[in-house]
Amino acid sequence: MIDFTKFIQYSKPGPRYTSYPTAPEFGEHFTYEDYLASIEKSNASKRPLSLYFHLPFCRSACYFCGCNVVYTSKDSKKTRYIEYLKKEIDLLASHLDTSREVLQLHYGGGTPTFFSAEELDEITSHIHARFPHFAKDAEISCEIDPRFFNEAQMQVFKKHGFNRISFGIQDFDFKVQEAVHRIQPYDQTKAAVDLARKYGINSINVDLIYGLPFQTHDGFMKTLELTKSLDPDRLAVFNYAHVPWMMKTMRKIDETTLPTPDEKLRILKSTMDYFNAHGYNSVGMDHFAKPEDELFKAIETGELHRNFQGYTTKGGADLFGAGITSIGETEEHYAQNFKEIEAWEAAIDAGKLPLMRGIKLSDDDKIRKDVIMQLMSNFKLDFAAIEQHHGIDFKAYFADALEELKPFAAEDLIHITDTGIEATPTGTMIIRNLAMPFDAYLKKIPEEKRRFSKTV
Ligand SMILES: C[S@@+](CC[C@H](N)C(=O)[O-])C[C@H]1O[C@@H](n2cnc3c(N)ncnc32)[C@H](O)[C@@H]1O
Repeated sequence: MIDFTKFIQYSKPGPRYTSYPTAPEFGEHFTYEDYLASIEKSNASKRPLSLYFHLPFCRSACYFCGCNVVYTSKDSKKTRYIEYLKKEIDLLASHLDTSREVLQLHYGGGTPTFFSAEELDEITSHIHARFPHFAKDAEISCEIDPRFFNEAQMQVFKKHGFNRISFGIQDFDFKVQEAVHRIQPYDQTKAAVDLARKYGINSINVDLIYGLPFQTHDGFMKTLELTKSLDPDRLAVFNYAHVPWMMKTMRKIDETTLPTPDEKLRILKSTMDYFNAHGYNSVGMDHFAKPEDELFKAIETGELHRNFQGYTTKGGADLFGAGITSIGETEEHYAQNFKEIEAWEAAIDAGKLPLMRGIKLSDDDKIRKDVIMQLMSNFKLDFAAIEQHHGIDFKAYFADALEELKPFAAEDLIHITDTGIEATPTGTMIIRNLAMPFDAYLKKIPEEKRRFSKTV
């Protein structure tokens, strides 16, 4: 039995490392010219493409939500958004070499299925017209809120070759659902999952969150049982990122009702044990997959990658996004679109890609990105591989980070050998803490000024 009360010391603000450098480092210092130059490099590389579309609308607020969302019930707003999104897709296609193969297409939100079947058809047809070369085994996926999903929408997804769906559950406990303003009965979720299966979707992911108000260890175990009965192929069990200074709706959550860090770790440990005992393997920080899933196989081959959508096997593609706040990523840069609809529209009207901010990766960024992403994905690191790839002497380059990891090694959370490092099973639960010593930007921010969610 692990004594989690000791772990309170690890509950610190820290990045989730869906990118490195992390989003606070993106800025206007990354100019439009930088962006165009990086796109040129991406075209020259002929690397395949990954496309992300942000469909931001939701009917009402889930108080825990940390995503970039626009609450509306007006159809006119959605119609206008589609018009501009199509123009942005045209612009993107005019800058990108569209003979490159598309390996991934993902709709994220907001609630993509807040758009009607006809609207989703219009958007998807437009994408296919501008990006005609989809790989035969392309991953085509959509995030779906089971409360907003009908058969006509599923037919559109089927027609356009969608093969993955991710459903938001979060927690089945009514008291928790009430506290986060998201009432979603089990039967409604099951009906949505059944509908996707009826249309042959055989990669179904569900999202849960631990750390929500009124959650208890025993209550969450009931959610896990109900979730397992849906037989998902993959699961994401996210640590609730509570950032009320950034997200207004989170201020509606009474912080005294949030589970304590040691309760959260007990929940996480039991979640890992539960899914491991019921036919799932852990993948990365917060994901589970069936053993035959390619995500799990990727761990064995060291091919698991982390990006803005979480974990993926398709690490070799350059990501371009469209829609407000969407993020793009290549080996050379991160780029983010405007967050405000007005600024996004104005750029598109001016015939420009709606870049708000970004970062061009320095050589040091590239080395640290590689190290941090490997740790976050595979929980281990082979010094020689990094040395070969980047032409550095690992132990000399990262002497300070290795020193910082020593106390974790003393607590048996990480093994440091002459050839590499590896998190222990307990250490994987605080993998963000183990990655933080390699983050050069974090070191420059005093701990009390770090504005990230807590790692535990
Ligand atoms: C855009 S939402 C999914 C689509 C859809 N709107 C829904 O809610 O079902 C993406 C996922 O991010 C996760 N998420 C959102 N806010 C979060 C937060 N503050 N902390 C951790 N996970 C969060 C949730 O699990 C959610 O299902």
